Amino acid sequence: MDKENSDASPKPADLKISNISIQVVSVPGRLPGRRPLRKPIGKARPNKKSKKRTPFWNVQNKIILFTLFLFILAVIAWTLLWLYISKTESRDAFYFVGMFRITNIEFLPEYRQKESREFLSVARTVQQVVNLVYTTSAFSKFYKQSVVADVSSNNKGGLLVHFWIVFVMPHAKGHIFCEDCVAAILKDSIQTSIINRTSVGSLQGLAVDMDSVVLNAGLRSDYSSTIGSDQGCSQYFYAEHLSLRYPLEISATSGQLMCHFKLVAIVGYLIRLSIESIQLEADNCVTDSLTIYDALLPIRSTALYRLCEPTRTLMSFVSTNNLMLVTLKSPYIRRLSGIRAYFEVIPEQKCQNTVLVNEIPGFEGKISSPYYPSYYPPKCKCTWKFQTPLSSLGIALKFHNYSITRKSAKGCEHGWWEINEHMYCGSYMDHQTIFRVPSPLVHVQLQCSSRLSDQPLLVEYGSYNISQPCPLESFRCSSGLCIPQAQRCDGVNDCFDESDELFCVTIKPACDVAVFGQPGPLVCDGFRDCDNGQDEHNCTQSIPCTNRAFKCDNDICFKKQNARCDGIGDCPEGSEEDSCSCSRSSSALHRIVGGADSPEGAWPWQVSLHFVGSAYCGASVISREWLLSAAHCFHGNRLSDPTPWTAHLGMYVQGNAKFVSPVRRIVVHEYYNSQTFDYDIALLQLSIAWPETLKQLIQPICIPPAGQRVRSGEKCWVTGWGRKHEVDNKGSPVLQQAEVELIDQTLCVSTYGIITSRMLCAGVMSGKQDACKGDSGGPLSCRRKSDGKWILTGIVSWGHGCGRPNFPGVYTRVSYFVPWIHKYVPSLL
Ligand code: ARG
Repeated sequence: MDKENSDASPKPADLKISNISIQVVSVPGRLPGRRPLRKPIGKARPNKKSKKRTPFWNVQNKIILFTLFLFILAVIAWTLLWLYISKTESRDAFYFVGMFRITNIEFLPEYRQKESREFLSVARTVQQVVNLVYTTSAFSKFYKQSVVADVSSNNKGGLLVHFWIVFVMPHAKGHIFCEDCVAAILKDSIQTSIINRTSVGSLQGLAVDMDSVVLNAGLRSDYSSTIGSDQGCSQYFYAEHLSLRYPLEISATSGQLMCHFKLVAIVGYLIRLSIESIQLEADNCVTDSLTIYDALLPIRSTALYRLCEPTRTLMSFVSTNNLMLVTLKSPYIRRLSGIRAYFEVIPEQKCQNTVLVNEIPGFEGKISSPYYPSYYPPKCKCTWKFQTPLSSLGIALKFHNYSITRKSAKGCEHGWWEINEHMYCGSYMDHQTIFRVPSPLVHVQLQCSSRLSDQPLLVEYGSYNISQPCPLESFRCSSGLCIPQAQRCDGVNDCFDESDELFCVTIKPACDVAVFGQPGPLVCDGFRDCDNGQDEHNCTQSIPCTNRAFKCDNDICFKKQNARCDGIGDCPEGSEEDSCSCSRSSSALHRIVGGADSPEGAWPWQVSLHFVGSAYCGASVISREWLLSAAHCFHGNRLSDPTPWTAHLGMYVQGNAKFVSPVRRIVVHEYYNSQTFDYDIALLQLSIAWPETLKQLIQPICIPPAGQRVRSGEKCWVTGWGRKHEVDNKGSPVLQQAEVELIDQTLCVSTYGIITSRMLCAGVMSGKQDACKGDSGGPLSCRRKSDGKWILTGIVSWGHGCGRPNFPGVYTRVSYFVPWIHKYVPSLL
């Protein structure tokens, strides 16, 4: 219809209707039975009597109705969808757990009863305050509620309130939610007055100690089990008597254990928890863990210690307040899970002393970390003052399984020491070290620097003659250090700089027939220790161990439990080697000299470790489910978690592995020092053992005999997918190999200085052949001449640049760690 026609007509509706009726008539067979239009529109009245009424059920109306129907359907569907989406999104709840101390309310015993009027009233007050803080903050839209879970006494006075805060927000917005921001909102709301110089401020009328505020992200499962909705095995223990042991025992062989034990002592005292044994699934705390907190709720930053594996060694931990939480999680119990422990109420210990030492040189007394032999809590500070009676006498400190070194720019991880105004960092080791201060008056201060509780420290002290620092005849002084006359590579670090342990490796054993045959270094081990090779003579004459319960070692038959997968076929029947079957020789014997593509399948123990899908480090297969790698590959929060790691075995070209397994567990050496790279070794347990069917492509490499000495000049191979040049920014796609030479330890010490007895150097002094970034954790493989077996002599650890002349690669000396490896992989025995 055009505009002109409609304007010209005085009754446009008439015209319209007649037009329509013409159309309707033209539709055959559908007119009869049609209902007339119910009402004419507008001024259509005169048409009322028209016989040819336009039927309602015509095509056009049908189309309109159908469109309308579709539209309504779409609106309903959209509404339902929107409701569904918003409902699913709202399920993303974020839990925060925290505590603060209220200084102006005194603790009442009734607060222990969660149903008491007193508890409910104080809980309501705190909840209202927290509500106000967050409903007026930038997160107000997402704030749901706060729940006070505990109100307790504490050694600083007032009330310690433990609470949860719940936020609800769409999943997509989760990233805007940072832990620090949520904590900052609470802290910023506390109005402290600088004039009063106190940490107590007003939080919406409550007097809150600013220094006591802790708030961390928490877990939904912990939330439900600590606010009482999911009781599980959560319970309170109130300890009121000193010198009483309160037992803490729980175990199960199936089902699950998710326990929260809340320990509360009388005000003014601390709690010492002693763990006698703990049974857990060892998986780096992915599922099973025992965590000790310095609070009543699982607030991450108050964690004192975390145990991820079973233990039967007595360990004890001390709280810094009169409360402690012990959580035990074992959600999928397959064998036995549980804990046997007890706790006690102990007084706080002061850790300071003034000591007058004797004028007779020698160690005469001991000092220790607070609460020795318990692990000492974080935030400790100890001071000791030593005085000698003569100005010619200094103070000697003998650290047990610990050592201190000059503090560098980096922070200290295991205690920092201030000795006569010089700063030192402490680190744990497996031998003692002696530190001498050439002064008659010595001030020593220890400050704990670990976030967690740390291993107990024991230090012997005594005086020494400053002009003659080596009191024992067997020691001599060299560059201000005491060097034992009889230098022995015995694992005992007699010198402060471990020089006895370094130099002894270069000493040639006395090759005299009288000594040969005695247990010691001169054994039939495939190495010509003596120039004339007499140590290796008559080796085949060893007493045959026909009884399979025995094995030969140094020509002596030992009970089979001493038998080791050490790559030495001591017995004629080679029984002790059958079970372990480490690689006798690799398939490719012809190797390319120098850094180059390796022949495919030449290094069947080589593993590529991928972190979140990318090649990151190397490793070596040592058994069906264990790999050996470097500790530094797993240093840091994310890297120490096994979940993002996968191990690629039987691989030649990056990404084309014959077998890939997730990593179940990472065991980093407990003495690994991230500053010096000492003890740079880690064991990895695969989630899936590689199948027997792949034994042509995947083979374990042999672990060297414990304490085996290496011979400088020996040629070995380093392999990996790391960078081909120092300046490259990515690794090689094809597995590379380079022949390197074992370097004299003294020479390496003179190059690098800080080479410990856990390290060895290999390379070529002219440079070029070396490992590089990305090769870390990979093998330094040496082939034993006597039987052709490949031995894992080293693990790629560090170096100055890559392939630089006079800077060889530094490797972890595997022979040092044989007992440690056997502790975790006894099947290698
Ligand atoms: N730390 C290095 C890595 O992350 C290995 C360095 C070895 N360097 C050397 N020059 N050998 O892969």
